[in-house]
This record gives sequence, C-alpha cells and structure tokens, in this order.
Amino acid sequence: MKALDYHEATKHSRARIEAEPHYLDFENMPLPFKIYSDLDRRPLPKGRSETNMPALSAVADPGAPAVGERVPSLEDLAQLLSAVGITKRRMYPGGEILYRGASCTGALYHVEVYIVCGDLEGLPAGVHQFQPSDFSLCTLRSGDHRQGLLEASGAHPAVAEAPAVLVLTSTWWRNAWKYGARMYRHAWWDSGCMLANLLALAAALDLPASVVLGYADNPVNRLLDVDPQKEGALALVPLGRGGPAPVTPAPAAEPLGLRTEPLSKYEVEYSEIPAAYAASSLGSGTQAATWRGGLQRVRRPAPTGRLFPLEPAVDGLPTDPVEAVTGRRGSTRRFARKMISFSQLSTILDRTTRGIPADFLDPPGARLCDVYLIIHAVERLPSGTYIYRPAHGALELLREGDFRQESGMLGLGQELPADASVNLYCLTDLHSVIDRFGDRGYRAAQLEGGILGGKIYLAAYALGCGATGLTFFDDDVTDFFSPDAAGKSVMFLMAVGRPGRRSNLTR
Ligand SMILES: Cc1cc2nc3c(=O)[nH]c(=O)nc-3n(C[C@H](O)[C@H](O)[C@H](O)COP(=O)(O)O)c2cc1C
Repeated sequence: MKALDYHEATKHSRARIEAEPHYLDFENMPLPFKIYSDLDRRPLPKGRSETNMPALSAVADPGAPAVGERVPSLEDLAQLLSAVGITKRRMYPGGEILYRGASCTGALYHVEVYIVCGDLEGLPAGVHQFQPSDFSLCTLRSGDHRQGLLEASGAHPAVAEAPAVLVLTSTWWRNAWKYGARMYRHAWWDSGCMLANLLALAAALDLPASVVLGYADNPVNRLLDVDPQKEGALALVPLGRGGPAPVTPAPAAEPLGLRTEPLSKYEVEYSEIPAAYAASSLGSGTQAATWRGGLQRVRRPAPTGRLFPLEPAVDGLPTDPVEAVTGRRGSTRRFARKMISFSQLSTILDRTTRGIPADFLDPPGARLCDVYLIIHAVERLPSGTYIYRPAHGALELLREGDFRQESGMLGLGQELPADASVNLYCLTDLHSVIDRFGDRGYRAAQLEGGILGGKIYLAAYALGCGATGLTFFDDDVTDFFSPDAAGKSVMFLMAVGRPGRRSNLTR
C-alpha cells in the first residue's frame, strides 16, 4: 500500500470517527511484553551512578561524530535501556499498568529493543532481546551477527564501526488492538519517543549513537526471526565506536522457531499495516546505500509576520541528569490554564531542534518537518498561531487570537490541548519527502516527528513543565494553519503547559 494512500486512509476526521466507532475488547487486550517462553533471562545490572550531563544538554546533543574508541559494556547498555524501561506502576480498575521512561500511545508498549553485538565486557556476542518486565536480556542467537546488519545497511559507516547495534521493532497487533490501521503511524511516533530517550542517554554516557533508517528490511527481520506481517524492524541504532570488526562472513541466520507467550486470545489483522511496511521496504544493501542522505535545504519564503526572537535561558537552568528526567516523565493528564514563560518555551524549542543524528537528515541539522504552534498562555507573547523559523531563531506570528476552543477541537475534542499553554505541531510536505525518499520517506517524516516529540517531553519535564503527546484531526489542522501550511500533513502533536490537579480520568 502506497504511503500516501495509507496516510489518506488513516486520517482522523469527525465524520470517520462517528461512522466507525471502535469497540475495545478489554478481555482481549494484548500483553505489553514479548516474552520468549523457553529462553533464560540474563539480569541487567542496576544501580549505576548517575551521569553528569544535565538532561537539557543531553537532549540538545546533535550527535556530533565521536573521536576515538568507545566500546559499550553491559553496564552501559543497562543504563541506556533503563531510559526506556519500567519507571512506575499504577493500579487501575482494569489491572496494573507498568509505565515506561518513554511515552507510548495507549500505554500499550508495542516497541521492542534488540541488541546485535560483538563480544562486550559482560555480554557475549549475540542477538539479544531487551525484556523490560524484569530488566533482563534474552539471547536469541549466539555469535557476532553484526556483519548481517552491516550488509543490510549498505555498509553504513556508523554500523561498520559499532560494537553494538540496537534494532527497534513494533509488533503491530499490540497497538492495533486499540488504534486499528492508524497504529502504523504510532510505530514511528512511539519508537521516536524511545529514540529521543536513548539518544539523550547515549549522549550523557558519551556513547556515539545515531538513527539508521536505510537498510534492507528482510535480512534484518530474518536476523531477529520476526515476521513482518506481525512485527517489523523500525530503525537501527549503531552504538559506540571501535573494538573488533564484525566477523565475516556473517553466520547464517537460520529460522529459530522460538515460542513466545500468546499476546491475546485472538488477533485482528489490519492488512494496511504490513502492506504499508512492505511498500516502503528496501530490497538490498545497495538500495539502502543510495537511499540515504543528501537532503536539499528547502528555502522558505522570507517571513512576513512579526518575529519574536527566542530567548532561551542561559543561566540557572535545572541540572537534573537525563535518567532523573526519564524517571519522572509522564504524560500530563490535566493542564492548569496557566502561563509558562517565553524563556521556557524558547529553551524547549532551542534545545530540541539542534539536530537529530539520522541517515535521512544529512547534512546535519537538516529537517523534514516544520513546527507550528498555537500559543494560549506564554508570557509576553500574543496568543495566536505561529511557525518556528529556525534560520531566524524566532517565532513568526501567523494569526493573533485566542484559539483554545479550536485547539481542543483539533485535538479530537480533548481538554488537554485546550488547557495547555502551547500546542506544538510537526508538519511536513509529504509529497516532496516522498519525491526525495520514495515511500520510505513516510517512515522518516513520522519518525522525525516522534523523536522531536520525545525530546519535547524531556525538555519540558526538565524545566518543570508538563507535556503530553496528542492525536488530532489531520486535515482540520492543515486547514487551520493554512495558507502557510497548505499541502502539508501533520506528523506529531505535543501539548506543553503547567500541570493542573489530576482528575480521575484514566488514560
Ligand atoms: C504520539 C502520542 C499520542 C498521544 N495521544 C494522546 C491523546 O490523544 N490523549 C491522551 O490523553 N494521551 C495521549 N498520549 C499519552 C499516552 O496516553 C501516554 O503516553 C501513555 O498512557 C503512557 O503514559 P506516560 O506517558 O505517562 O508514561 C499520547 C502519547 C503519544 C506518545
């Protein structure tokens, strides 16, 4: 299924939501973990000392190329994975939810992390799965399989030098249970939020890390022994630099046939998901190598609206390290209709948009998405709609006015976007993205939105604000920001504000 067809078919609109109400069978709610029934678990070490880098610095790190050798140990991996591990438990009438360091639509936690590594201190070479339920690793394959990933990525230089590579996957049904075919978007959003946490913690650990989207899908899925009809690889994250080169030739990746715990009593197939995934798959490493990089900077017309230069805070910023912020991050369930300062908003924008180290964002600092804002309550800024102009380091006022009610409507009629101090939307011109990157560009644009969203969560919480990801009525948002946004599509929505008193609402 072509990316644009998928996107069109999964747009939220009032008419569609009324015409297709979705009934949730809670008796059939999928397990939020992938549990290999017959494999031993290797506990991950806990309790390492804190990193020294403030979260606000880590989140701003654009992943500058590292110099020198840095081979992660099992302890490093444990610390890194704690950024996406379980952070709190809450009882609800329907049972217990184990929340994690990164937000996830519906708290359904459908994204898995695997590690493909050579021999590391404390961890033998192999293909391992991170098991958040008890903070452990399961070994699926022994031996150094990095060469398989290197070939699949078309000899990506960071993969070639990485002692370990994380591979993120999504198991479609675990999120489609609630969101149906639209979940394919969530695969990128939710893994993007996890990547924001992982990249920030990698920066704090001084571990080179980047996001590689250009790889042949089938060999990667075969290596993990996953069936892309049900679970597909989303991104590679080469970690560290140096140590022994990958073993060649790569050992054969025979099917493993490992048993996993059933996810639910029955599964409903949403064929659009594997179809969109298949249509954006790359067939070979050679294709992957030509796919990535080389993004032309899009020249936007000069601003015509009033410009408000950002005023990011320089002194007196909170110094909490990333792990403290991922540990306390949550999605704000109620916003008080209170002001945040312009300095806070400026700091969030400044720190989160300095660049994402990704193979589709080359040269460094390139971006596929623009940030549009609806400002309700930011000190010294007129309420209204804005676009962030990174080249000017400023917000450009598009339309002045009080749009709280409209924000609520655009965010599916929820109170959160209406009550927030500001809503930040990532919009992209999907046609030009797909012109450049083919259908795989859809993955890239959605993922960029997700990573930016995850960074905004971290920066907002580091500054003592609240934040939440939100969903939206697609075309209504585009219309609302038009004519500036005409032809663009929404890739992500974040609301930021002052947390209010919690209500009894469940998520
Ligand atoms: C992309 C995205 C969209 C979300 N959309 C909504 C939403 O529309 N309404 C809502 O109440 N929460 C929304 N959330 C918040 C999730 O429900 C929340 O992340 C999840 O329950 C896990 O809780 P936590 O973020 O507090 O750890 C969204 C989160 C993400 C990442």
